[in-house]
Amino acid sequence: MAAASTLLYGSVLAGLFTSALAQSEYGQCGGVNWTGGTTCPDGWVCTSMNPYYSQCLESTSTAPSTTPTTIPTTSTAPTTTASSTSTLTGIAASAPTIGPSHDVGKTPALGWNSWNAYGCNINEDKILAAANQFISLGLAKAGYQYINIDDCWSVMTRNASTGRIIPDPAKFPDGISGVASQVHALGLKFGIYSDAGTATCAGFPGSLGNEELDATTFAEWGVDYLKYDNCNVPANWTDASTPPDGDWYNSNSAIRYRQMTAAMNETGRPFQFNLCIWGNANVWDWGARVGHSWRMSGDSSASWSYITSIITTNVQHLDSIDFYSHNDMDMMEIGNGDLTIQEQRTHFAAWAFLKSPILLGTDLGQLNTTQLAIITNAELLAFHQDTTVGTPARPFAPTPSAPTTSPPQFYSGTSAKGTHVFIVNTGNATSKTFDFANVPGLGSGSYKVHDMWTGKDVGTFATSYTTTVDTHDTAAFLVTAA
Ligand SMILES: *[C@@H]1O[C@H](CO)[C@@H](O)[C@H](O)[C@H]1NC(C)=O
Ligand SMILES: *[C@@H]1O[C@H](CO)[C@@H](O)[C@H](O)[C@H]1NC(C)=O
Ligand SMILES: *[C@@H]1O[C@H](CO)[C@@H](O)[C@H](O)[C@H]1NC(C)=O
Ligand SMILES: *[C@@H]1O[C@H](CO)[C@@H](O)[C@H](O)[C@H]1NC(C)=O
Ligand SMILES: *[C@@H]1O[C@H](CO)[C@@H](O)[C@H](O)[C@H]1NC(C)=O
Ligand SMILES: *[C@@H]1O[C@H](CO)[C@@H](O)[C@H](O)[C@H]1NC(C)=O
Repeated sequence: MAAASTLLYGSVLAGLFTSALAQSEYGQCGGVNWTGGTTCPDGWVCTSMNPYYSQCLESTSTAPSTTPTTIPTTSTAPTTTASSTSTLTGIAASAPTIGPSHDVGKTPALGWNSWNAYGCNINEDKILAAANQFISLGLAKAGYQYINIDDCWSVMTRNASTGRIIPDPAKFPDGISGVASQVHALGLKFGIYSDAGTATCAGFPGSLGNEELDATTFAEWGVDYLKYDNCNVPANWTDASTPPDGDWYNSNSAIRYRQMTAAMNETGRPFQFNLCIWGNANVWDWGARVGHSWRMSGDSSASWSYITSIITTNVQHLDSIDFYSHNDMDMMEIGNGDLTIQEQRTHFAAWAFLKSPILLGTDLGQLNTTQLAIITNAELLAFHQDTTVGTPARPFAPTPSAPTTSPPQFYSGTSAKGTHVFIVNTGNATSKTFDFANVPGLGSGSYKVHDMWTGKDVGTFATSYTTTVDTHDTAAFLVTAA
C-alpha cells in the first residue's frame, strides 16, 4: 500500500483549479499538483492551509496563532456559557449559540474515512467494502462505528430548482441515502463531508450560506457524522485579527461553524460534528461549544515527523479534552506509506491515549494480521472509549532527574481500571525507567505492572519499573497496587 495517501487527488483536481481563482485575493495559489499561479497580489501572501490547498491571504491578516493559550485549571469539559451578547457587534451579535448534540460523541469517534485511502477516487463499492470489512475483520466488534465519505462525493453544481447538493450519480448510483441505508443495515453509522466555505477543498459545493438546506438534506439521507472543512472562505468571513472581545468563539471562523451546528440541531437528528479547521482560531478554546472534535493541524501524512509534530502540538492543549470534547490529530495512516510497525503502534497508541478520534484511512483489505491486531487492541480501545474518565493521559517526569523532551516520552492517565503509563520512544535509547512515586496518582511502594498490548501481567515491582521500548515504539501499561 505504498503512498496510498498520494492517490488521484491532484490529477483530478489539476483540471478543476487551473482556471479558478489563481493569484487573486483569497484565491488558490498552491497545493499538491497545483498547476496555476503561485504568486499573490501585492500585500497578499500565499499561505499553506493544508498540503492540498494554499490560499492568497492579506499579509497583515496573520493566521490565528497555534501557540498555547492560558490553560484552564479545571478538568471539566468546556460548556456552553452565555456570551455577553450586549457587547458584541456585527454578525457575532446575532450568531446562533446552540451547542452540539450530547446524544452522540461522548467518547472520541471510532471509524473509517475515505480520504487517506482514496482521495477523490471514491465510489459506492469502495465505501461499502469498508463497511463490510468492519464486520468481516472484527472491527465493528472492537467498537468501530463510523463509515465516513470525504470530499468529492457530489457533482459540481447544485440542483438549479431546489438548491440541493446532488450526489455524483456515476460514483453513487444509489445516491448518498442508498449508501447510508446499506451502512445502517450493517449496524454501523454513516458520515459525510462538507465545507464552511463556498466550495470544498476539491471545488465541489460548500455549505456556507446553505447550512439549513444542507443539514436538512443530510438528515433526510440518514447522515450521522459531518466533517466540515475550511477551504474557499470568502474574504468577509475570514478573521483579520483577534475578535474585538478577544473571544475566538465570536470570530468569523467560529461563526461559520456555529451556523452549521444550529442548522443540524434544527433537523432534530443528532449529528456528530467534526470541525476541520486546521488548528485555526484557537479552536481548542471554543470547539466543544460548537462540535465534538476539531482538527489541530493541516492534513496528516504517513510519516514519523507528522506523528511527533501532532503529538507536540496536542500536548499543549490537553485541557480541552474531555467527554464530548476532543482534539482531532487527523485520520489514521496505518496501512499507508512506509511507517515501521513500531511507528504504526505509536500512531494508534498516541491517538488512543490522547483521545483523538480514530478514523482508519486505508484499504482495510490490505492490512496484515499485525496491523489488524494493533487497531483492534482491546485495552487501548477501552482506555480511548472509557465512559467514566474523559480526560487524556498527560506527560509526566518519570524520574526526578529525567530530561525534558519534545514531544514528551512518558504519559500517565486514568481509566475505570486504574492508572496507566504510556512510553513513546522518540529516540534511540531503548531502556526506559519510571519511578512509581513520580507517576501522578501512585506513590512509592510495590505495584503490579500489566502490559496493555499483550494483555498479560508483567510482574510486581518495588520502587520503579524498567522496560525495553524499541525506537519509535510505544509501550502501554496498567499499574495497580500490588
Ligand atoms: C500528482 O500528479 C502526478 C502525475 O499525474 C501523480 O502521479 C501523483 O500521484 C499526483 N499526486 C497527488 C498527491 O495526487
Ligand atoms: C438541540 O438543542 C437543544 C438545546 O440545547 C437540545 O436540547 C437538543 O437535544 C438539541 N437537538 C439536537 C438534535 O441536537
Ligand atoms: C432537481 O430537483 C428536482 C426536484 O426535486 C428533480 O426533479 C430533479 O431531478 C433534480 N435535478 C437533478 C439534476 O438532480
Ligand atoms: C459576508 O457577506 C455576505 C453577503 O453579503 C453576508 O451574507 C455575510 O453575513 C457576510 N459575513 C460576515 C461575517 O459579515
Ligand atoms: C505487517 O506489515 C508490517 C509493515 O507494515 C510488518 O512489519 C509486519 O511484519 C507485517 N506482519 C505480517 C504478519 O506480515
Ligand atoms: C538515532 O540514531 C540515528 C542513526 O544513528 C541518528 O541519525 C539519529 O540522530 C538518532 N536520534 C536520536 C534522537 O538520537
